[in-house]
Amino acid sequence: MIVGVPRETAPGERRVALVPAHVGSLVQAGCTVLIEPDAGAASGYPDAEYEAKGATIAPDARRADVLLTVRAGAAASADDPGPGRDGQTVIGFLEPYGAHPSFSTYLKRRITAFSMELIPRITRAQSMDALSSMANLAGYRAAILGAEALPKMFPMMMTAAGTIVAARVFVVGVGVAGLQAIATTRRLGALVSAYDVRPAVKEQVHSLGAKFVEMELEAAEGQGGYAKEMDDEFYRRQRDLMGDVVAQSDLVITTAAIPGKPSPVLITEEMVARMPPGSVIVDLATERGGNCELSQTGETVVRHGVTILGPVNLPSSLAFNASQLYSKNVTTFFLSMVNDASLVIDPTDEIVAATLVMRDGAIANETLRGVLGGEQ
Ligand code: NAI
Repeated sequence: MIVGVPRETAPGERRVALVPAHVGSLVQAGCTVLIEPDAGAASGYPDAEYEAKGATIAPDARRADVLLTVRAGAAASADDPGPGRDGQTVIGFLEPYGAHPSFSTYLKRRITAFSMELIPRITRAQSMDALSSMANLAGYRAAILGAEALPKMFPMMMTAAGTIVAARVFVVGVGVAGLQAIATTRRLGALVSAYDVRPAVKEQVHSLGAKFVEMELEAAEGQGGYAKEMDDEFYRRQRDLMGDVVAQSDLVITTAAIPGKPSPVLITEEMVARMPPGSVIVDLATERGGNCELSQTGETVVRHGVTILGPVNLPSSLAFNASQLYSKNVTTFFLSMVNDASLVIDPTDEIVAATLVMRDGAIANETLRGVLGGEQ
């Protein structure tokens, strides 16, 4: 079986799907590994390192049986060559929650497609959970971006010229990204508080040395450690209850998300206007609508003296480490389906059933059939 790794084409994408350290595990499983020239160059993995581990640098790497990609889906650039041949298997972030041109091409060309976004958060799949790997890095990067944009420093400091008080950080949404944002801002010395609609995270917040903000709201815990969507009245009450905390914060990092749904709007313009001048909001959720009503995808805007960042694809800005983690996730997932050097797709396997988007020219996943309106 030939496994190919293309150079990513999505604008600004610097990651690569496979790092040299994981070539050996594929070769050992009986695969031939082809790497498109310079596929790893932007993330710090030169061609020579792949060759040293047993891969071949090949301009036609896309013609492989299986293509390991980072962003093969909606994000790929318009001139992306797409699948290297009909009937190929493609694994990557496919942005499966909306119909896009890549899907119709894949269906026509009878591509077998697996979406890394859909790896379930179950124990057996932990080392395949690419969304968590990437969210972890995004949480770290959000904290650093916030620190850079804030005209205050994070730690308390007693100097001969006076005492500097610690910056106050409020993290909304304590999933993977939120936890890492808390850990990083704490390490930098800020006073950190956090809130999540899942009370289960309170202990984790405390274990990182941050304060959990108590609110008189019912828990909104859904399945598998995710939040469930609530009605407008719930979010209105949440905004009311959060108003004072936001108004007293120098930096607010928002990461609130509900799988497959738009992100809840938790910070209104009125709340922004009450924040101290020079304060900062980093909204990680803009690609799904945003948690702050003033944030804009990929932009930095200043309103009422508050700088609001809506960064996208933060993992790409940490491409070396992001590729390293993603490569581990994608190779573990792929190798879980390899038997005797062949790909064996068992649709009854929980992880396969969750991630298989299409096969033999048809959408394979029940949930997505609903989302894509039965597009076939
Ligand atoms: P996650 O699902 O692990 O965490 C989201 C958290 O938000 C959950 O703990 C959930 O309970 C909480 N939440 C939902 N509704 C809430 C509400 N009304 N109030 C408070 N908390 C609420 O998600 P993860 O992996 O941490 O990602 C967080 C966000 O960051 C997502 O929107 C994701 O798309 C985004 N992200 C953005 C990146 C970027 O570069 N901008 C990169 C990676 C992730």
